[in-house]
Amino acid sequence: MNTDPQRSHPGIIPGPYRLLHGGDYNPEQWLHRPEVLEADPVLMRQAGVNQASVGIFAWAALEPERDRFTWDWLDRVMDRLHAAGVGVLLATPSAARPRWLAEAHPEVMRTRRDGRPIPPGEMRHNHCLSSPVLRERIALVDCKIAERYAGHPALLGWHISNEFGGDEDGARCYCARCLAGFRDWLRVRYHDDLGALNLAWWTGFWSHQYGSWDQIRPGDASIEALNLNWQRYTSGLVADFCAAEIAAVRRHSALPATTNFHGNLAHYDHGEVAAHLDLMSYDSYPSIEGGPGDMGQVHWHAWAVDAVRGHAPGRPWLLMESCPSLPQWHRTQRLKRPGVHRALSLAMVGHGSDGVCYFQWRAGRGGMEKLHGAVLMQDAPHDTRVFREVAALGDELARLGAVAGSAVPAEAAVLWDVHSEWARGWNSGLRSLPFPAELSQGWHRPLWQAGIGVDVVDGTRSLAGYRLVIVPGLFLLRPGLVERLQQAAAAGAQILIDGLSAWVDDDMACVAGGRPGPLAGPLGLRCEEFDQLRSDESVAVEDGGGWLSAAPRVRGWIDRVHPDGCEVLVRAVGGFHDGWPVLTRKVCGAGAMWYLAAGLAAEDAAALTIRLAAIAQVQPALPGLPRGVIARERRQPDCRFVFLINPGDEPATVELPGGGWSDAASGAVIGARLTLGAWDARVVSQRCPLP
Ligand code: GLA
Ligand code: ZN
Repeated sequence: MNTDPQRSHPGIIPGPYRLLHGGDYNPEQWLHRPEVLEADPVLMRQAGVNQASVGIFAWAALEPERDRFTWDWLDRVMDRLHAAGVGVLLATPSAARPRWLAEAHPEVMRTRRDGRPIPPGEMRHNHCLSSPVLRERIALVDCKIAERYAGHPALLGWHISNEFGGDEDGARCYCARCLAGFRDWLRVRYHDDLGALNLAWWTGFWSHQYGSWDQIRPGDASIEALNLNWQRYTSGLVADFCAAEIAAVRRHSALPATTNFHGNLAHYDHGEVAAHLDLMSYDSYPSIEGGPGDMGQVHWHAWAVDAVRGHAPGRPWLLMESCPSLPQWHRTQRLKRPGVHRALSLAMVGHGSDGVCYFQWRAGRGGMEKLHGAVLMQDAPHDTRVFREVAALGDELARLGAVAGSAVPAEAAVLWDVHSEWARGWNSGLRSLPFPAELSQGWHRPLWQAGIGVDVVDGTRSLAGYRLVIVPGLFLLRPGLVERLQQAAAAGAQILIDGLSAWVDDDMACVAGGRPGPLAGPLGLRCEEFDQLRSDESVAVEDGGGWLSAAPRVRGWIDRVHPDGCEVLVRAVGGFHDGWPVLTRKVCGAGAMWYLAAGLAAEDAAALTIRLAAIAQVQPALPGLPRGVIARERRQPDCRFVFLINPGDEPATVELPGGGWSDAASGAVIGARLTLGAWDARVVSQRCPLP
């Protein structure tokens, strides 16, 4: 792997440091049009494209019949791309099957929850991941691809499968083999002790005790731990399948491997898959409609990629797919206005992506994605606004090459753990209270708006090094998390935990001894009752310390807690909740553990977050950002980059303190202030330490 003392991290791909620009390229759909395939690399050059993800859905083109492999077309594609200076992330083609495979072996198809198998050939991303036939065939084709192209000069690395867990019901298959695998997995988890499982799952409830392992079948909603563990097992299958594919290509190639994460990141436990990857990647499709919801979209995707990067904190990742124009599945088919694509793309680079890639280079003429905006639309002329914008961005990314390999600093962490998300999904009750992802996004947003670097991390990750840790809606306590929180606090972190956290243990039984279970000591309190407020209700507070906004109120819920060693900083005033704590703090070593015992309006949560960030001495990329301007920082050993994005229609002026600023793309010197137009973006750099 390439390393350079001027760069914070190794490059994400071999060869000279550069930002990637490219995307999914599906030449197998154009084999009948050789002139199109010849034009592609030429046009890629014009568009400043230096990367292509090839072969993602090409299994049928590579192995049209069992054991008959057709490499000639891919050989030509690889050679042509290389000649045009385009590197290739070569895919393992397991996201869709050739028809012959499922016709001969229906077992490769997933079985639906109701027991019906998916018919052979239908859609994609829907195999049974435990099928030995599927695994054997995919290992074979993966190995052959790796063997053939491992030494090809165009090869940059491996794009393993595509969007695992996509399409219906995540990655879950209910065939007899998967159910048997689940039981075996449970035997390991509970050390072959059915009694231990019965106890952990509280199966005495409604006479649900299992008398044998064979009686365990997912689906019964009354045993919540059953379904949660089924979800864990099927998630583990994804990780195992992905690992097996990586092992197959590793037999011939040591180049980096990734798989593209997508959507709400809840289809499977991405942390488990991430453990096998060299590089994180994500597919991002914000919907920008020219209205007040746009900022929410920009923020949602910022949160998602901070969560993707949270599996490899600080390191660059890759925006594997985005749309240069408009996905056909967006609710409103409203084109991105000029500048929007550039601003969204540079925002992703600001969040740590070492490139901007698209779905896709050229749209096909048929199939259900023919109208999905691509760099080139079918075989229509390329002289388009989208092509010109893409080419201009390609040029700019080339000029921003110094950014590649830079770190993404974050002194703050907001937790989000998919096991809590799943557990809330299976939990009977609390349905109308916000779910963990929504809560995590809510606490992430003020930090993001203030220009503070933040990682979104799961409940298994080390918290060492963070100065501020926010734990919202962490309903299920993962093993070891309490200890990691205490260690971080002892080392000086400010840790805020809310009352929707710490309700259940790893098997969804209520925490022993009452909420907040093992956090009672560290927080210095115990919870007695939890009250959900009507949506039109709120509770006044006494906030002498000015922790919240100027007119603070409790909304949504209040957790009635008894202090037992903590200080009470904010209290409810009046009515039924009069005097009950809203915000508490207990000093712990060099840091402190804070408890938020009530729901807050967004402005109160924002005020508290910023106050905590100040106590934790967490620095923003730039102080005093005008409202609506986003600032993300990336760092090389001797300089820092600040990505400034103005995702809105009003111009904004940013102050650049300290001097020594220049435009990172042009090198031009910049003074103490910079004005950004509508949907404008600028990357500025500053030498550090300052001369
Ligand atoms: C996903 C997939 C692609 C394509 C795009 C369309 O991200 O990975 O294959 O279907 O969606 O938006
Ligand atoms: Zn199955």
